[in-house]
Amino acid sequence: MSEYDYDLIVIGAGPGGYVGAIRAAQLGLKTACVEGRETLGGTCLNVGCIPSKALLHGSEKFEEAASGTLARYGVKLGKVELDLAALQADKADAVKGLTGGIEFLFRKNKVDWLKGYGAFKDAHTVTVAGKDYTAKNVVIATGSSVTPLPGVEVDNDKGIIVDSTGALALSKVPAHLVVIGGGVIGLELGSVWRRLGAKVTVVEYLDALLPGMDGELRKEAAKIFKKQGMELKLGTKVTGAAVKGKQATLTLEPAKGGGAETIEADCVLVAIGRRPNVDGLGLSAIGLELNARGQIETDHDFRTKIGGVWAIGDCIPGPMLAHKAEDEGIAVAENIAGLTGIVNHDVIPGVVYTNPEFAGVGLTEEAAKELGEIKVGKFPMMANSRAKTNHEPDGFVKVIADAKTDRVLGVWAIASVAGTMIAEAALAMEFGATSEDIAYTCHAHPTHSEAVKEAAMAVTGKPIHI
Ligand code: FAD
Ligand code: NAI
Repeated sequence: MSEYDYDLIVIGAGPGGYVGAIRAAQLGLKTACVEGRETLGGTCLNVGCIPSKALLHGSEKFEEAASGTLARYGVKLGKVELDLAALQADKADAVKGLTGGIEFLFRKNKVDWLKGYGAFKDAHTVTVAGKDYTAKNVVIATGSSVTPLPGVEVDNDKGIIVDSTGALALSKVPAHLVVIGGGVIGLELGSVWRRLGAKVTVVEYLDALLPGMDGELRKEAAKIFKKQGMELKLGTKVTGAAVKGKQATLTLEPAKGGGAETIEADCVLVAIGRRPNVDGLGLSAIGLELNARGQIETDHDFRTKIGGVWAIGDCIPGPMLAHKAEDEGIAVAENIAGLTGIVNHDVIPGVVYTNPEFAGVGLTEEAAKELGEIKVGKFPMMANSRAKTNHEPDGFVKVIADAKTDRVLGVWAIASVAGTMIAEAALAMEFGATSEDIAYTCHAHPTHSEAVKEAAMAVTGKPIHI
């Protein structure tokens, strides 16, 4: 009989943890996954990627109908009304289907779900709901939660000052939504409520939206969201909030210092980033320390400094993205099983699912320039036949290549389907492609993806359609 109850215990059933647990089981390891939520799937499936995309999709349909743009295609509508309860029900249905699907996959792959929050007793023992379980290996995949903003107290039940979870569940459209933080969550959820009828003001500390993305995309983002009717207060910080009845009053100051102003809102979304979930995990019991950002450090194989303890996903350094967590889940399981699991952290695409979408993979132009000489090719969506036909003029594709080797270092795109287009750029970069490789790859016509080919052709100064 084995010395341990399990070969592997994974703590947390988000995209990192559940995928890692399933892969480990596929590789023949006796595996359990600890999850404290009532449903599997973590932040992503319960209160993140999936519900936000359901509301983005639904609100896009509503705006298309309500704004009258469908009339151009001969679709004549009478008075368009919003049934928010129906939209929320559709979102709940998507979440239920997908979280239930993970439960099915656990049963199919014989992964035991240990229900409750887990804490280390020692490096090979995890206590869950008062019971100890042992394992040869433990993977920490506890994810992240909203970073609080001192002086701006979130209360999702009241629905006045909310975090992303509260903003996904509002039962009425706010008259004025103030979003604190012009990052991914602020712009996606700000877009949802603007489309449904709210006035939306985004307060961002930095001088540009979407930190981490290429500078040109960040500049263009401000233009596009302003054009869509969002009010942007860049270079501005929120220093306090007071709630009286059903209204909040926020105090704002220029980030660089200066006079304060106040603004009123009936809903405030705090979206200033997320931080790792490590409280209550018992890390001190195993002597595992955190870095200055509160993250768990690992080596390239996702091993922590403690033997038999591994970590993946949002609780370790790197972008907080579901697909990054999933790939790390697969890699860590393969490493534990004695195979070679690798994640190429230089090629992790990122997408903002607004309309248009903002997407990128690899280095920004700013970062690439710091490393050496580069060549850049750009192609506007306005000159792409499919985007033009669909009346989607905003955006461009930009390919950044090494000036000497022509190897692609980064690709950035703003387009209605930029999130889908960026997949080919990631694949090309993973295979070490040059811009010429992309330029000489046949792309189907008429597709938005032809803009990727033309941007690659532009690296050598020879796009056709501009
Ligand atoms: P999580 O998904 O956070 O899962 C961790 C799980 O561990 C949780 O279920 C938690 O309950 C559980 N847990 C924590 N501590 C314990 C414990 N001690 N014992 C047992 N269980 C524990 N990313 C994208 O790539 N695309 C998107 O479109 C996208 N949209 C998002 C929208 C929103 C509103 C938010 C908030 C996030 C979004 N993200 C998106 C980010 C994405 O959700 C995360 O990067 C991803 O969920 C991280 O996966 P994870 O497995 O590391 O952690
Ligand atoms: P973020 O890091 O994307 O943006 C936070 C923004 O808040 C930054 O622009 C920052 O400068 C600003 N900020 C910080 N403090 C501030 C203050 N006091 N006042 C005003 N602005 C302030 O974080 P966000 O949007 O909360 O998202 C968290 C994570 O979730 C991200 O890391 C992202 O990767 C992930 N996510 C991914 C999505 C996707 O892939 N489509 C969708 C939603 C979330």
